[in-house]
Amino acid sequence: MTVHVFPSEIVSAIESRISANLYDRDHLLSREQIEELVRLASLAPSAYNLQNWRFIAVSSPEAKARLTDAAYGQRKVLDAAVTFIIVGQFPSHKALARRLEPSVAAGFMPREMAESWVGVISDTFDGKASASHDEAIRSATFAASFLIFAAQSMGLASGAMTGFEAERVAREFGLGAGEVPVMLMTVGRAAEGNWPQKPRVPVAELIEHV
Ligand SMILES: Cc1cc2nc3c(=O)[nH]c(=O)nc-3n(C[C@H](O)[C@H](O)[C@H](O)COP(=O)(O)O)c2cc1C
Repeated sequence: MTVHVFPSEIVSAIESRISANLYDRDHLLSREQIEELVRLASLAPSAYNLQNWRFIAVSSPEAKARLTDAAYGQRKVLDAAVTFIIVGQFPSHKALARRLEPSVAAGFMPREMAESWVGVISDTFDGKASASHDEAIRSATFAASFLIFAAQSMGLASGAMTGFEAERVAREFGLGAGEVPVMLMTVGRAAEGNWPQKPRVPVAELIEHV
């Protein structure tokens, strides 16, 4: 059976995305452009709408130099217009109550439902570091993938990175208790010479139909 994929900007974005290694050093982004990237990333889903993430936008030469040092000298942090430290947060039932309030105020979420979700989050995560850490990673990773395609929609390249000293980044960039530096994401205008998207394992080897 042939599956017809309709022409879609989303499909082309997925098919053309690469992890950029080389960036145009002269290309900068305005504060508004950086904030628009974060707005789009924040539209990613998270369990119970926890939104347990925040973004440190590293774009000043001084901060880029510090982050490059903490990322084993990976040059792209210096060259990209901005590198986001994508911070995942341990779920907090107090934060969730605040985050659900706009849905209650908008009239589509019953208040009792919001309160029961807050209870579930408290039972599931309060005092449970391992489960909380997993959820921080899970949510921030979703936000990171939305950030990739937000960048793509603005004609920009991106690159996820976990090659960095997590403790050092947490210390130097002021992360708090219950915050994890999940990933770095370089964003900027690609320079010539990047590799194409690398080949993937065929679907037949990835999928199990049950
Ligand atoms: C979680 C994660 C961490 C990564 N860390 C790094 C990194 O520290 N340095 C780097 O050059 N590339 C890094 N990459 C990029 C991968 O090498 C790249 O996604 C993979 O080789 C596939 O290439 P493609 O995305 O261009 O198809 C990372 C990617 C992911 C998803």
